[in-house]
Amino acid sequence: MQLLAWYDQNKRPLPWRLDQASLRDPYRTWVSEVMLQQTLIPVVIPAYQRFLKKFPDVFALSLATEDELRPLVKGLGYYRRFGMLQRAAKIIAGVSPPGKPLWPENQDAWKVLPGIGEYTSAAIGSIAFGIPVPVIDGNVERVLCRLADIRQAPNLPELKPRYRQMITKMLGNPIATARPGDFNQAMMELGQRICTPKSPDCGACPISAKCASRKAKSQHLAPAPKIRPAYEEVRLQMIIGLRRGLDGKREVALFRRGSKSKFLKGSRGFWYGETRDLPSGTENVGSFRHSITKHKITADVQILEMKPATKKSCKISAWTKESPDWVPAGVVENELISNLDVKAWRLVTRRLQP
Ligand code: ADE
Repeated sequence: MQLLAWYDQNKRPLPWRLDQASLRDPYRTWVSEVMLQQTLIPVVIPAYQRFLKKFPDVFALSLATEDELRPLVKGLGYYRRFGMLQRAAKIIAGVSPPGKPLWPENQDAWKVLPGIGEYTSAAIGSIAFGIPVPVIDGNVERVLCRLADIRQAPNLPELKPRYRQMITKMLGNPIATARPGDFNQAMMELGQRICTPKSPDCGACPISAKCASRKAKSQHLAPAPKIRPAYEEVRLQMIIGLRRGLDGKREVALFRRGSKSKFLKGSRGFWYGETRDLPSGTENVGSFRHSITKHKITADVQILEMKPATKKSCKISAWTKESPDWVPAGVVENELISNLDVKAWRLVTRRLQP
């Protein structure tokens, strides 16, 4: 099969391919695929290596605390996936004898775990267990659109069954069926490196002879541009409460965001709201832009100097219902996971420094 011959010659030496004695370690495959879901390969590589050093197996991850996990996944975005990964690790470790992970038996059983859907279960199933199930990501969709000269937006839901039918047929080739993990990775890599959106390198493509779009010279039409969700502009006020601690050092108010929070549920960070009314005494230290999924956020950052600490807990203002944790200013950056909070904190530190 031309595609697999190309892959064997050209595949990138990515750490999750190299650091496994065989390509079949479910834990490593799982971690790498979760990281790769929303983040580009060059960012994932060092994060993956850091993560595996600290949590070499599912048992180590099952015992991880949030404080240990946070610095390892910082900057990768969509951090909730790592909370789910850790919870799933706990479930697996909980049903396994010590040192011998009992992995889910099939794709449906994987999908019961937090954070694992069609894509991740198919990636793990094919790469780690050799089950011939197709993986269809955005890159694969583009390759399929080109192969069949589909000149529609590649993310139209009605195209999904067509993709599945096409790729299942390709995967039916006995050479592909024997190496489903490599087949899936080859398709993804072909889309990433050769069958690129704007300038596909058809001369280097192992399957160009079968490509309807190449034949019709319609590579720029197939697929059509993606349908993008409408962006929503949001204006947030962020309030960073500051005070002197019992030791005289500066402390900062961090809140645990609840499940009703609009953004970054479950994370710890600064107070934010869509309110226009600010408590008296706030001082604006600047604004920044940040995107979270379809929301384009403009955040105005205010600091609010509070009375020095007493032994009693203290809210940063009458209208925040919850009391914050007061964290020494020197370690705040380590406590933040989302870039929303990190960007706000940078504005604050600029102001606090003389
Ligand atoms: N993107 C997501 N998973 C991948 C993999 N296993 N190989 C290449 N690209 C990927």
